[in-house]
Amino acid sequence: MKLFLDTADVETVSQFWSTGLIDGLTTNPTLMMKAGKLPDKVYYDLKHLGIKDISMEVVADTSEGMLAEASRLISLFGSVVTIKVPCTPEGLKACKEMANQNIRVNVTLIFSAAQAILAAKAGATYVSPFVGRVYDQHWDGRHLIEEIADVFATHQIKTEVLAASIREPIQVTDAFRVGADICTISVPIFYQLYKHVLTDKGLEKFDQDWQKLVGG
Ligand code: E4P
Repeated sequence: MKLFLDTADVETVSQFWSTGLIDGLTTNPTLMMKAGKLPDKVYYDLKHLGIKDISMEVVADTSEGMLAEASRLISLFGSVVTIKVPCTPEGLKACKEMANQNIRVNVTLIFSAAQAILAAKAGATYVSPFVGRVYDQHWDGRHLIEEIADVFATHQIKTEVLAASIREPIQVTDAFRVGADICTISVPIFYQLYKHVLTDKGLEKFDQDWQKLVGG
């Protein structure tokens, strides 16, 4: 059961990294655009924070282009690199080639178990079903995770299920309950996982009673 952060905001990552609860990180072009920094700078800073598994998305639309991008990223950042490719014929072709070279691959933009099966056949390290975007379409994101996890368990597939596009803390619990190996979450969701009104209330009462005892 692993937790990844889903962000390219290095300053925020540095605060949460110190919790010791984060196992890796995912990025994508939208997150890079929001961070307003060039990807190489972001990857460099993330690597130097000590993050050991960083999903870096390639943007070429041919397998050759994707492989060239992957090779450049690996030459720059080495073992922390996980190459993120889309679930397209070209993406899966590149995935297969990288898997043959023992490069970690995260196949992204997964919206069906059928796509996850193809990605697993292509040797993906991770498949990323987009839970929140499925719910956005009024489908069942939890069921998608469950279907993929069931198929992988039945056929003893090593590819890990990385639940992505998570919008609410409950979706983390749901994803792990139905067999996700990893959830990648934004910093606000990570923070919300700690929160419970009764924890806050209970702590307040303990503090008050402690002060009554020792505060005079
Ligand atoms: C992670 O790998 C995905 O790129 C990300 O979780 C997508 O999230 P979104 O649907 O909120 O953009």
